[in-house]
Formats: sequence, structure tokens, C-alpha cells
Amino acid sequence: MASHINFSLLLLAVLGISMTIMFSIPVAKADLELKETKISVYFHDHFSNSSTPNATDVIVTGFSGKTWVYNQFGTVFVMDDLVTEGPEPTSPTVGRLQGTYITTSLDGLRIGTSFSLVFTNKAYNGSTIQIVGNVNQLDPVEEYGVASGTGKFRYAKGYAIFEIISFDPATVYTVLRLNASILHY
Ligand SMILES: *[C@@H]1O[C@H](CO)[C@@H](O)[C@H](O)[C@H]1NC(C)=O
Ligand SMILES: *[C@@H]1O[C@H](CO)[C@@H](O)[C@H](O)[C@H]1NC(C)=O
Ligand SMILES: *[C@@H]1O[C@H](CO)[C@@H](O)[C@H](O)[C@H]1NC(C)=O
Ligand SMILES: *[C@@H]1O[C@H](CO)[C@@H](O)[C@H](O)[C@H]1NC(C)=O
Repeated sequence: MASHINFSLLLLAVLGISMTIMFSIPVAKADLELKETKISVYFHDHFSNSSTPNATDVIVTGFSGKTWVYNQFGTVFVMDDLVTEGPEPTSPTVGRLQGTYITTSLDGLRIGTSFSLVFTNKAYNGSTIQIVGNVNQLDPVEEYGVASGTGKFRYAKGYAIFEIISFDPATVYTVLRLNASILHY
């Protein structure tokens, strides 16, 4: 019995090793070199607490019996902001910054975020990077992680900084700069 088990284990080990050899396809060294891409772009946030025609950043839900407001724990937002090369909305389009965020701290200060920068410009058309994090939403400069990516940004990692450039309280329109450093192959 024991020797039978040992034989099975040996067979498994041999199979394992040969599978490893079979599936270890050699990768050219050049393909494994990390590149850094730095981007500095702007996004245009039209916030509303209810879905108005031009809103691109809207509260979806919150706890019943509580006001659905940015500084209330549990408030859920969805966002689809235009991303441009320069700070003017008429500047050439880079893509869209789409995702969700939730007020995740009981004191209402912090948000947990999951954003995708969906590129539609010539250089990165169809590629995405995933920007995730947890920030104090009152900070004028916020740092996020770049956790992954697709297309030209497969295997991406890095960081992204959002910085408020201008804010119009009358229309709740904010322009933010998004700087990112992305390491990818
Ligand atoms: C949206 O916010 C405004 C101003 O803060 C407030 O007067 C209004 O009641 C809010 N609307 C909803 C649906 O919460
Ligand atoms: C919506 O956007 C259009 C075009 O940019 C603008 O003319 C209009 O004033 C905006 N409406 C609101 C409510 O912001
Ligand atoms: C991006 O890709 C889409 C789909 O393939 C295409 O329709 C569009 O023209 C491309 N845009 C640019 C700027 O290359
Ligand atoms: C973002 O990048 C721009 C252009 O390189 C630079 O001027 C600015 O200081 C950067 N912002 C931050 C917060 O690092």
C-alpha cells in the first residue's frame, strides 16, 4: 500500500516536472523589460446628487433614512468623466474616466474607489488602466494606485495623482489633473 502511494506520488512528481517543462515557453528578454509611461491629463467632473442632463458624476444610492450626500457613510456614486489633453474641455480627447466610488469611512471623510481610464486617443486607443484606492475626499491632491491594465498596459502597476485645477460651485463643475506613472511591459 505504502509503496503504491509512493509510486503514485513519484508519477505525479514526474508528470508535474514534465508539464512544467512543456508549458515553460521561453520569453525573449526584451519582452520582459519594464517601461515607464507617464501621463498628465485632465478630467471634467459635472457633479450632481440627482441625475441632471449634464451630470457625469452622480449619487446612485445610500442608506434609507439617511441623506444621500458625499460625507455620509455608505453613499454610492457612479462617474463617467471626459478626459482631455489640456484643461479646456475642448482640448483633444484622451478618453473617459469611468467607475464607482463609495463613502467608506464612518466619519464620512474617505472614499473607496474603482476607476478605469478608458483610452480612446490614437496612442492608447482601446487600452485601459485600473485606478483604485482609498483617499480623503477633501484633500486637494489625492494619490491612488494603478493596479492593472489592458492592451498596451497589460501587467501595469503604478500610481496616479488627482489634483483639483478649478472648481465652479454654481455648476458643481470641477477640472482635475490626473498624473500617472505606469510601469508595464
Ligand atoms: C441635492 O443637493 C441640494 C443642495 O445640496 C439639495 O438642496 C437637494 O435637496 C439635494 N437633492 C437630493 C435628491 O438629495
Ligand atoms: C449642459 O451642457 C451644455 C453644453 O455644454 C450647456 O450649454 C448647458 O448650459 C449645460 N447645462 C447645465 C444644466 O449645466
Ligand atoms: C479607436 O478604435 C475604434 C475601434 O477600433 C475606432 O473606431 C476609432 O476610430 C479609433 N480611434 C482612434 C483615435 O484611432
Ligand atoms: C503633474 O504633472 C504636471 C506636468 O508634468 C506637473 O506640472 C505637476 O506639478 C504634477 N502634479 C503633481 C501633483 O505632481
